[in-house]
Amino acid sequence: MSRSLSVVVLAAGMGTRMKSAQPKVLHKVAGKPMVNHVIDAARFLHAEQTLIVVGPDMAALEQAVAPHPTFEQTDRLGTAHAVLAARNALENARGDVLVLYGDSPLFTPATLERLIAARKEGPHAVAVLGFTPDDPAGYGRLATDPFTGELQAIIEDKECTDAERRIGFCNSGVMCFAAEGMVDLLDAINNNNAKGEYYLTDAVAVARDQGRTCVAVEVAEEETLGVNSRAQLAIAEQLMQTRLRNAAMDNGATLVDPASVFLCADTEIGQDVVIEPNVVFGPGVKIGDNVTVKAFSHLEGCIIANNADIGPYARLRPGADIGAGARVGNFVEIKKATLETGAKVNHLSYIGDARIGAKANIGAGTITCNYDGFQKYKTDIGVGAFIGSNTALVAPVTVGDGAFVGAGSTLSGDVAADALVLVRAERTEKAGWAARFREKMRALTGKD
Ligand code: UD1
Ligand code: MG
Repeated sequence: MSRSLSVVVLAAGMGTRMKSAQPKVLHKVAGKPMVNHVIDAARFLHAEQTLIVVGPDMAALEQAVAPHPTFEQTDRLGTAHAVLAARNALENARGDVLVLYGDSPLFTPATLERLIAARKEGPHAVAVLGFTPDDPAGYGRLATDPFTGELQAIIEDKECTDAERRIGFCNSGVMCFAAEGMVDLLDAINNNNAKGEYYLTDAVAVARDQGRTCVAVEVAEEETLGVNSRAQLAIAEQLMQTRLRNAAMDNGATLVDPASVFLCADTEIGQDVVIEPNVVFGPGVKIGDNVTVKAFSHLEGCIIANNADIGPYARLRPGADIGAGARVGNFVEIKKATLETGAKVNHLSYIGDARIGAKANIGAGTITCNYDGFQKYKTDIGVGAFIGSNTALVAPVTVGDGAFVGAGSTLSGDVAADALVLVRAERTEKAGWAARFREKMRALTGKD
């Protein structure tokens, strides 16, 4: 259910300080582009429309934000000018319009909700999310009325008098507007200032000139971080990881050493899951209840059902589907393969493009040979089958239910249910051969 809320995401900046070929907002925090964190917050708020302001030649960004409409700001003439790139969509907006920056991924829906509520409560023309940083240099200062607490103006750092520069309360960049009259308000902003830019922040003074009121709401500095450099990207990652780890623990997972576990924004972890140290989750991992993920495992794009046991040193790649009570042990790589209930792949194996039937046991060193340099082929192991150690399964290959494959086999084709198959050289043993060989060689070379 959407509500009368529009969100405008400013993402026109290339972010030169990132020294990157891709737009800044596509850089990832917890496995998700920063701009998508912002868009997902808007989704959480049930925004009716989410409008993305992009710069020229940002096809990759347009793709990343689809299906949300994008609006190109061709010249960078300031934040008010950027918002007005979405003029057509804003002229029809109802209720509230929230302006967010695509490079600030840490604002929580709860905080944004608080800002919208304060705007409505006035009702005010503009509500601004403010914070009190350790160092206010560079930020717009929020001038509030000491008696009413109302926001009087936002003064950009470059425009401040000495007295104004001493104000500690700053603009985080997030602003909420009454949709009605917003476009007129922004149209009234001029660029007679130090930077020659159309400052969105001037909307406060303009609204007050029109006899309307504005308000500021305070938020913790941590949420306001904007990313301009790789170093700030790393700080955002740390803050986000802390949040995700705490959320996982709040939901009933044990993280033995939280600081060494890396999660993605979309990681889903059930109850009574134990995550040992040094585990990395890539995108798209879902874990059920009572699962243990042992140290040094790397998981991405996989599903793990209840009571499974993973690692240490397991690598689960996209399409790994680990059934209930299944076991994936050390130095095992699984890709696009299903392990049914209770199946075991305990040591040193590669299982790709395969189905491993329930309770089947895959011996150490088993490899599915799934690729011939051109195509991938499937391996199908039946329920309760036993694959001996060091078996090469040359796909396509099917092993029937309950069948037994002798260790060291190089197997292709099909094996019937409950059969034993051995594909290895016959054993030969020559009694006394080694002793006779040594005697002959000693006589020949004189060596001992
Ligand atoms: C802005 C605010 C300032 C606030 C600070 C918080 C204005 C005038 N000032 O300042 O009060 O304290 O953020 O970080 O709004 N952008 C465009 N097109 C433009 C200009 C900017 O898309 O023409 C985007 C940028 O890519 C960025 C955001 O808007 O994501 C803010 O712009 P930036 O230049 O960083 O503004 P600040 O000077 O930091
Ligand atoms: Mg900035």
